[in-house]
Order: sequence, then structure tokens, then C-alpha cells
Amino acid sequence: MQNFHPRHFAIVPAAGSGTRMGADKPKQYLPLLGRPLIHHALATLCAAPDIDRVYVVLSVGDAEWMRHDWSALGPKLVPLFCGGPSRADSVLAGLRAISGEAAQSDWVLVHDAARPCLAPWHIDKLVRELAHDEVGGLLAVPVADTLKQADGHRRVAATVPRDRLWQAQTPQMFRYVMLRRALESAHGVTDEASAIEAAGLHPRLIEGDATNLKVTFPLDLHLAEWILQNRER
Ligand code: C5P
Repeated sequence: MQNFHPRHFAIVPAAGSGTRMGADKPKQYLPLLGRPLIHHALATLCAAPDIDRVYVVLSVGDAEWMRHDWSALGPKLVPLFCGGPSRADSVLAGLRAISGEAAQSDWVLVHDAARPCLAPWHIDKLVRELAHDEVGGLLAVPVADTLKQADGHRRVAATVPRDRLWQAQTPQMFRYVMLRRALESAHGVTDEASAIEAAGLHPRLIEGDATNLKVTFPLDLHLAEWILQNRER
């Protein structure tokens, strides 16, 4: 299964509607520093020397993509209009669409369109630390807060011990064939690592940092703007 120089493909699922943002367009297209939100992560992925191609999985009827200019991102960027009803369906559709291009042992880095503050060093660290890993893994951060489990009345039912708890981020990086098989068998998973875990394997946790946040609520957009502006200075 191993080839000597595996390639690295990024898949960015961007077929969600982002209803929690309460906006009139999918969150990947909301303006962030004068560009669509998704542009920022795509720019970082396209500029990464380790990444050979960047596939964006859009919904079949996406009419917004063509309204923007992506030419600054160069020839690595390829849109695929094949998104599915869930994030996992969109990633799997992307994997199927690139089957002619990807070898079984090539690496796939799946990154949420909604994480615009991905930095070059996040990608470098993930790729270096997983280069010889049997399974692959994901960026994640150790949980800092004390966690409470609620009962049905929003009262604390239990305090969950936080030692050894991590918050999963993206990119999540696995071999093409392993990820495709895992997603074909797993149902209802919210990230790629869960599909790999359901196959009985143990993805490695690579420590990232809190700047790689997922834009979910309107406040997150302001935080992302602040992070990007202060990084550029
Ligand atoms: O909604 P959430 O923030 O969990 O979405 C995570 C990522 O999955 C986003 O990039 C979103 O566009 C993508 N997604 C998708 N297809 C869906 C649902 C979500 O590509 N059907």
C-alpha cells in the first residue's frame, strides 16, 4: 500500500448552509477582510509546498462560487460540484470524484471551509509529524475548561473529567484508501477521525492552537478577523 513519495491532496467540504450564522448566504461566502471566508483557508492550502492539489466540494446547485474571483489562488485549486446532505457525504463524494487522480496511499487532508485562520505552520506540523504514521491523525487542542454535562432541565448532571480530552480541529489527514473505506462504512460521523475510529483504528492527536477556530456563530467572524489581521502585521 505504501508508495515511496505519497502526494498530499486537500479536500475542503464547503457544501453546508451554515444556518447557525443566521446570514442570508452559506457561511463560507460571508465577507471576511474583503474576501469570502473560504478564500483564506484555500489561499493557505494552495500556498503550502507540501500540498499538490486543493479540491473544494460545493453543493450541486452552488451559484455563488462563480461570482467570485479565485484566480489569485493559482492552478492547484479545483472546484467539485458534488456535495452531499452531510459533511461526511460531501467528503466522500469528493474522494470518489478524485479516484482517478489519487493513489491508495496518497494522503488526504480534509479541512473545514469554516476554519479561515489555518496557518502554514499548522499544515507543516501535521504533515511532518504524520509522515510515517500508520493511521494518520488530526490537529486538536487539549480542553482547558472544566466540562459540565447537563440534564434535561439545563442543570448540571455531572462534571466530566477533562484530563485526556481534546477538541478536534482540521485538517484531518489520512491515507486515501483508508479514509474512503472508513467513510463508506461509517454513518452519522461529524469528522473523518470518527470514521477511522469506527473502523477500529486510533488517529494521532497533533497539538494545534486555538487560532484555528471554526466560525459557527456571528462573534466567531470578529475573532477570525482579529486573528488574521494581527497575524499579517
Ligand atoms: O456546519 P459545520 O460547521 O459543522 O460544517 C463543517 C464543514 O462541513 C463546513 O465547511 C461545511 O461547509 C461543510 N459541509 C459540507 N456539506 C454538508 C454540510 C457541511 O460540505 N452537507
